[in-house]
Amino acid sequence: MRAFVLSNYGSTDRLRMTELATPVPADDEVLVRVRATSVNPYDWHLMRGEPYVARLMPGGPGLRRPEITVLGCDVSGQVEAVGRNVTRFRPGDDVFALLPGGGFGEHVAVNERLLAPKPANLSYEQAAAVPMAAVTALVSLRDSGRLTAGQTVLVNGASGGVGTFAVQIARALGAKTTTGVCGPHNTDLVRSIGADEVVDYRADDFTRAGPRYDLIIDIAGTRPVRACRRALTPRGTLVVVGGPGGRWIRPVDHVVSAAALAPFVSQHITVADAVGHADKREALATLTELIEADLVTPVIDRQYPFKELPAAVAYQEAGHAAGKVVVSV
Ligand SMILES: NC(=O)c1ccc[n+]([C@@H]2O[C@H](COP(=O)([O-])OP(=O)(O)OC[C@H]3O[C@@H](n4cnc5c(N)ncnc54)[C@H](OP(=O)(O)O)[C@@H]3O)[C@@H](O)[C@H]2O)c1
Repeated sequence: MRAFVLSNYGSTDRLRMTELATPVPADDEVLVRVRATSVNPYDWHLMRGEPYVARLMPGGPGLRRPEITVLGCDVSGQVEAVGRNVTRFRPGDDVFALLPGGGFGEHVAVNERLLAPKPANLSYEQAAAVPMAAVTALVSLRDSGRLTAGQTVLVNGASGGVGTFAVQIARALGAKTTTGVCGPHNTDLVRSIGADEVVDYRADDFTRAGPRYDLIIDIAGTRPVRACRRALTPRGTLVVVGGPGGRWIRPVDHVVSAAALAPFVSQHITVADAVGHADKREALATLTELIEADLVTPVIDRQYPFKELPAAVAYQEAGHAAGKVVVSV
């Protein structure tokens, strides 16, 4: 099989198309023929081994060399073979998954408990746009944010991969109003996916604009946690999802400052974690219900052929994709 292999930490020129042996599924694994993948900031953080501080953390990407050499956490495709203990899938089934890696290759062996049936109304490319970004949005709103019907929600970073799902899911879960913060070129997009109000971050600072929200999903991480608190109701919740990347410590410092402040304030400050989420299959099943009910639709900015995967990663890393960047495999 062909795969893009990461030879060492660095830029996209370290991703080389290579011929590898097709994996053989273990007893509890399913061999998936990958039909599409999508690019997430997670991929280029692992590609660069940045921030460096992450290399020292348990479960980090590897101190000197990358431990995961075939990146790609979003996968959609077709089951080609199953291990002897697999009960839920058969060859020919269409599936999708959120994986630690392996999506940047033509085949991947996946533990059965990570796989879910692909939403019937999505193409492989649309389905590949879902796992990391939409699971993050769902976990942030429903689990970390404990969104209840009738609450007011603000999404900072509403036009990106996670944000375009968060705006739609907030509405589907019954938010009274959803406000999206994005750049001037994306205000129409964010309105079109259901935001009631849109704040152009070039023109206005949502932390000083006046309105207060029951729940802020901070995906862009562009304002300090203490500033975000000004835009929260006295008992409101701030969910820190991400922030601008850096070589040494960003965005880990943003997450750490949120966790450090949390015990000392009346508002609820918390962090979302899709990668560590215990039941990814349940999250994908919940998302499938929303997608098949036409309450949530992936927003795709660009679609690349497999041989141009490094260009897809570079475009995503530039930080202004309007929705998701997907790759046909
Ligand atoms: N905690 C987790 O489990 C988890 C999981 C997935 C992702 N993340 C993190 O979440 C973040 C976003 O991921 P993503 O996939 O959505 O990335 P993305 O698709 O690249 O989106 C980034 C968005 O940030 C927006 N942005 C840039 N500057 C901004 C500003 N000053 N104010 C408001 N928005 C601004 C951009 O909007 P414009 O183009 O309109 O400027 C863009 O839409 C990353 O830091 C990622 O690492 C965390």
